[in-house]
Amino acid sequence: MNSTESAEMRSVKKIGVVGAGLIGSGWVSRFSARDIDVLVYDPSSDGEEVLMAHVENAWFALEKLGFDRNRCGDVRFCDDLEEVAGTCDFIQESAPENLELKKKLHEQLDAIAPPDVVIASSSSGLLPSEIQADVSHPGRILIGHPFNPVYILPLVEIVKGGNTLERHANEAANFYLSIGMYPLMVRKEIDGYISDRIQEAVWREALHMVADGVASTQDIDDAIVYGPGLRWAIMGVCLTFHLAGGDQGMKHMLKQFGPALKLPWTHMEAPELTDELIDRMVSGTRTQAGNQSIRDLELLRDNCLIEILEVLSRYRFAAGNTPFKADTLGPS
Ligand SMILES: NC(=O)c1ccc[n+]([C@@H]2O[C@H](COP(=O)([O-])OP(=O)(O)OC[C@H]3O[C@@H](n4cnc5c(N)ncnc54)[C@H](O)[C@@H]3O)[C@@H](O)[C@H]2O)c1
Repeated sequence: MNSTESAEMRSVKKIGVVGAGLIGSGWVSRFSARDIDVLVYDPSSDGEEVLMAHVENAWFALEKLGFDRNRCGDVRFCDDLEEVAGTCDFIQESAPENLELKKKLHEQLDAIAPPDVVIASSSSGLLPSEIQADVSHPGRILIGHPFNPVYILPLVEIVKGGNTLERHANEAANFYLSIGMYPLMVRKEIDGYISDRIQEAVWREALHMVADGVASTQDIDDAIVYGPGLRWAIMGVCLTFHLAGGDQGMKHMLKQFGPALKLPWTHMEAPELTDELIDRMVSGTRTQAGNQSIRDLELLRDNCLIEILEVLSRYRFAAGNTPFKADTLGPS
């Protein structure tokens, strides 16, 4: 999305982050690096510790992107949900992916937050119409679905529920643009939205192949990282396949590979998550990781992501067009 309808927007000086696990702390890092104060709520007994450790890790990447720890917004942990709901200009909810929990939480937030404050849920696939079903001001509730690591990746899918007001969706989009993101307005409310539907299809096929003994977890990853994965960051799947049809592009591609669409190449349903399959996935990825910790792998991932974004920005293409660095801040 390059531009949005102009919307009368509440100026966002302080953000409430509700739920501070992997995704919530990624949001906190992104917001704070862009000099926005953040008030964080998480009911877990070690919530503050976990948050601060995640934020500390994110700064390795944020400093590489040019952000300055001495010029960032305050991060304050708060054990009073009402204070978070009542004093912030925008709320980003990142609590566990459980519809009943999210519905209850949004009811609590909605009862306190001024009616013009947008409440965005990071949900990976729940329907916003269901999350907003029992609140008094459903017009400001929407999905703002980010990607891990939130402090680097620009995509945020905005999904409106049946009662979400267009003006609040536009406000959210403008706000996300202002913090270097790429808001993708999902046209139709749908479970799993766009990107998780694509990821889920790949994931289900991968699980089937491991369950059927066709491939190890390493084989699955090799089949992506040496081939299609390298292309996906540049051109996604449709434009990549446009090039699979030679000079005639997509037209010839569909003529040549159209019949394969009727072949049994994919499963729709995921396989049963048996103990054996879980064991193959866990032991397979453990072997792949070798002696590298999760933190080692996160650092490797973050360093490579930053360099991929830099290459794409040299070509002014795809995510390289977003203001992902500190010196390119501001709406694109
Ligand atoms: N993990 C991902 O890659 C990913 C990507 C995009 C979106 N999401 C979505 O983000 C949300 C959070 O996922 P996560 O991976 O950060 O999970 P997580 O388990 O790492 O974090 C969830 C946090 O919510 C807290 N929490 C529990 N009950 C709460 C409550 N009632 N109110 C507020 N906080 C509460 C937990 O203490 C925990 O810190 C989910 O909706 C998920 O679908 C996850």
